[in-house]
Amino acid sequence: MKTIIIYATRYGSVEKAAMKLKSHLEGEVDIVNVKSDPDIYHYERVILGGSIYDGKVQRELGKFSEDNLQDLLKKKTGLFICARIEKEVATESYLSKSLPRQLYDAAIAKANLGHEIDLDKLSDKDLAFVRKGGIEESISVFHEGRMKKFAEVMNRFV
Ligand SMILES: Cc1cc2nc3c(=O)[nH]c(=O)nc-3n(C[C@H](O)[C@H](O)[C@H](O)COP(=O)(O)O)c2cc1C
Repeated sequence: MKTIIIYATRYGSVEKAAMKLKSHLEGEVDIVNVKSDPDIYHYERVILGGSIYDGKVQRELGKFSEDNLQDLLKKKTGLFICARIEKEVATESYLSKSLPRQLYDAAIAKANLGHEIDLDKLSDKDLAFVRKGGIEESISVFHEGRMKKFAEVMNRFV
């Protein structure tokens, strides 16, 4: 059973979340940036992960999902985000707005696995945006419990 985690990131937290998630998944797991246009043919499980900017997942993850929708629907899929707003309803709204509805409905695991904001790394534009939202300190939070739960659901399908 092979799994591919396809991710999109601006500052690296989704890639970190993917690596942490990998440690809970059974079988072979590859982690690939969506920018390298991965081929999902040889994988039974596909996990898509992105981060939220101004309410939406990266456009390239949405485009990849649209372009590969029919193939994705034949796999066991999981969707995760890294986002500051933790409420479940926000996770649902972010994912359903940014990815094809059929994929959202078919996914067996969906979660916000945590988020990071490193004020020293942000572009001037992004720094101004988060400051406007009242964020004054850097933060790094990953939810180990949610990762385990997410992986357990994915691992059930062997
Ligand atoms: C400019 C900016 C806008 C953001 N907009 C949102 C948002 O609308 N909702 C949210 O929940 N988190 C938002 N975030 C938090 C990011 O989703 C979070 O920092 C995430 O961990 C970034 O992941 P990445 O480094 O992999 O891109 C925003 C962060 C930045 C810097």
